[in-house]
Amino acid sequence: MSQKNLEIISDDPEVFFAGLLGEMMPPQVLDVACGTGGFTEMLRGSLQSYGQIIGIDVREDAVAKANENRPDQSVRFEVMDAAEITFPNDTFDLVSCAFSLHHMPDPQAVLAEMRRVLKPDGTLLIVEMYHDHLTDPQITEIMVHHWAAEIDTALGELHRKTYTRDEILELVQRESWKNPQTFDLAGINFDPLGEDIMKMMLDTIVRVLHKAKPLPDYDDHQIKASLLGDRVAQVGTHISTRLIVLAQK
Ligand SMILES: C[S@@+](CC[C@H](N)C(=O)[O-])C[C@H]1O[C@@H](n2cnc3c(N)ncnc32)[C@H](O)[C@@H]1O
Repeated sequence: MSQKNLEIISDDPEVFFAGLLGEMMPPQVLDVACGTGGFTEMLRGSLQSYGQIIGIDVREDAVAKANENRPDQSVRFEVMDAAEITFPNDTFDLVSCAFSLHHMPDPQAVLAEMRRVLKPDGTLLIVEMYHDHLTDPQITEIMVHHWAAEIDTALGELHRKTYTRDEILELVQRESWKNPQTFDLAGINFDPLGEDIMKMMLDTIVRVLHKAKPLPDYDDHQIKASLLGDRVAQVGTHISTRLIVLAQK
């Protein structure tokens, strides 16, 4: 997969994905590890048209919530392990996976399954945040994310630290893809100490700390929360960079 000098795009994600996907009209779309359907909705809003979008996730509660909010019959969500997708070979024209590889017990198996269910010439779309090549305000976001990952994992829900950019590329290119393209999308066009981002991050820290309540080392997490809050106020926050990989089977 081609390596290039990092060229950071700082668009609104909606504008970016509309530009990337706006001419595509895939009949069959699969969104892997859809959670409650946030990225599925981004896909729906970005594609020029689509026939059917199916989202899959292992979490029953997330799938139930996604189905409650589904816009119409052309979008549906199913409980399914992405490492053992039950759809036949060569079913989908577009298969995506956003923000999820670092949540997977076996991301390699998931990528192999994504390739299997793609039609020949079908499109792979990976979106994954990474933790290197970041500015100090972006590192604030990643530090909060890694702390949340530590708490999720302690509570029994696998959530690793994010990968490096090269690790994501290496994972994806273990399968064979045609015409790979990469894009690096960040959110850095605003004041990192502005009121809105500061409130959003402080609210996130409160929410993450609340999750840690049942843990035996809750006191340590209170200290971490306080240190992260100080960092948000001093260094500020920008949105860390997401690697987007677009390729064909
Ligand atoms: C950060 S969430 C992704 C949310 C969604 N893609 C979005 O961007 O709105 C990560 C998701 O990966 C799911 N996940 C982890 N392992 C999985 C697997 N083996 N198969 C399917 N989903 C999985 C989790 O249940 C969780 O909902």
